[in-house]
Amino acid sequence: MESMKYMQRTVDCGALRKSDCGRTVILNGWVHRKRDHGGIFFINLRDRYGITQVTVDTEAKGSEELASICAQLRNEFCIAVEGEVKPRPEQMVNPAMDTGEVEVHALRIEILNKAEVLPFQIDEESNASEELRLKYRYLDLRSDVMQKRIRLRHEVTFAIREWMSSNGFYEIETPTFTKSTPEGARDYLVPSRLYPGKFYALPQSPQIYKQILMVSGFDKYFQIARCYRDEDARGDRQPEFTQLDIEMSFARRDDVLGMIEALFCHVFKKTLALELPAKFRRLAYEEAMEVYGTDKPDLRFDMPLQDFAPFVQAGSFAAFKDALAAGDAEKQKAQAKGITGEGGGVKAIVVKGKADYSRKQIEELEAHAKIYRAGALFWMKATGGSLEGGVAKFFAENAGQIRAGLGAEDGDLILITADAKRAVANVSLGAVRSKLGKDLGFCDPKKFEFVWIVDFPMFEFNEEENRWQAAHHMFTWPQDQYHATLEQDPGAVKGDLYDLVLNGYELASGSIRIHEPELQKRVFNIVGLGAEEAERKFGFLTGAFKYGAPPHGGIAPGLDRLVMIMAGQTSIKEVIAFPKNSFAAGPMEDCPSEIDQKQLDELHLSVIRKKED
Ligand code: AMO
Repeated sequence: MESMKYMQRTVDCGALRKSDCGRTVILNGWVHRKRDHGGIFFINLRDRYGITQVTVDTEAKGSEELASICAQLRNEFCIAVEGEVKPRPEQMVNPAMDTGEVEVHALRIEILNKAEVLPFQIDEESNASEELRLKYRYLDLRSDVMQKRIRLRHEVTFAIREWMSSNGFYEIETPTFTKSTPEGARDYLVPSRLYPGKFYALPQSPQIYKQILMVSGFDKYFQIARCYRDEDARGDRQPEFTQLDIEMSFARRDDVLGMIEALFCHVFKKTLALELPAKFRRLAYEEAMEVYGTDKPDLRFDMPLQDFAPFVQAGSFAAFKDALAAGDAEKQKAQAKGITGEGGGVKAIVVKGKADYSRKQIEELEAHAKIYRAGALFWMKATGGSLEGGVAKFFAENAGQIRAGLGAEDGDLILITADAKRAVANVSLGAVRSKLGKDLGFCDPKKFEFVWIVDFPMFEFNEEENRWQAAHHMFTWPQDQYHATLEQDPGAVKGDLYDLVLNGYELASGSIRIHEPELQKRVFNIVGLGAEEAERKFGFLTGAFKYGAPPHGGIAPGLDRLVMIMAGQTSIKEVIAFPKNSFAAGPMEDCPSEIDQKQLDELHLSVIRKKED
């Protein structure tokens, strides 16, 4: 039997060079642009590899058929062109194109498939709305920028597999139909046909399986794993996303950190030809909060949060004094209960050379600080060797001391937050710092500043539910020095856990895990998970731990976020072939969608519609 017949390509659209002149070739591709120069048509023919200029002389003798086909061609027709490679006339050479020295003089054109009128142009960077781009994702993906981003993703994934495999890691797949063991987000659930009323859950991560693989002796595991979380979408969040999931036996914190540093050095070198530092900076969680007001600091610029408290008493501003006094009182109360209190805070940043910021600009920053619960954003300006404007009048006595202490010079703007809760003063000013970084153009997308955040608190208090919960997850090893006092002061316990932050994004999270059943029980207890509930939810893990579980730890970088940052983007949708929109829907395939009654019946489900639906 004969296979389908058409003029099949002999070269791709990015291949031809001057040395090919004189060859007769066949190209397959899409009509990127068609221009009419009075009887001579120029067609930019595009495929994954590049663009080749095809010229069609429709007025030459015997070219009637060519002319008639050429007249039909519109953008995005899929065609085959046979022609002769010729040098371009000198003035037409395009050094910006790989194939810019040549053109193909068409002898024959075959239309392989027509294209309807396009919903938007296939441009370098589409300015179509996101909804339209996602509805016609197959067209959006044809653009040069999207092709490059998807290629980068492939190259990153490949470099990861290359490094992991040559460093002794096995790639092992784990189930996507699993048991619902909430990790923080809501689960996506799959109803079971065979077991009425029972559900599989799609994994929020392969966490438990990878720990069990350590019990099984695989020693070093990785997986490019799809994870599912039913949480609100954001620029760096999708309901389904991909992790590079890693676990190692007999590893301590620095082994995991060192392994990731070596891996990322390899990946950045292989894909972007960039040398990363062999070691990344490390910041303790508390220091990150004090100096940057966030555990995801963008270190492409400095502008640290500074302590303004030492200047408060010599001044006469009641709001600052009150914040510190109220904070002190709270702290003493907490300490009386044996809990480490945080106290109040007055924090400042110096914005270099921005004393000319208008009141409106400062108000915009204040509105941003208020989103993070700041009561106000106070300010003053360094001018004429002193301080002026805003709250400066309360600090006339110690203006010089403040300028010297904060390192403020004439022309600088000083922004201040104050709160009885130190964390509020820090976080709200940290948010202002991040906004300023973006507004002032300090966030160069070609710079990559990695930082490890270590020594995180193990537990955080959930005020709404009035209980302790795990800050990362319940399987994290509390640092050794806290084991004796775990139950006494959970808020003071630091976990053996770490985040990797890149350019202000949380890129990866991980920890050394608990491998001792007794310690695991104590942690379950602190977060209010009773023995019976723990057994029901995690029995298969704690059960496995009874059989000689090795000490182990791991980490999971988000692959979408990594590629997004490498591609200089701020939304992971730009590096996912078929992402969901901001409402967790797929506009192209139109999902989620209704299913028919028969399917519902088989799954023992009935849909209860609320009135407003
Ligand atoms: P965690 O929940 O912190 O840890 O996730 C690890 C990394 O996965 C990425 N990520 C996401 N990316 C896109 N969309 C999302 N909705 C999303 N949620 C998370 C982030 C994040 O840093 N099992 C643990 C890891 C471990 O302890 O080994 C875990 O899943 O880049």
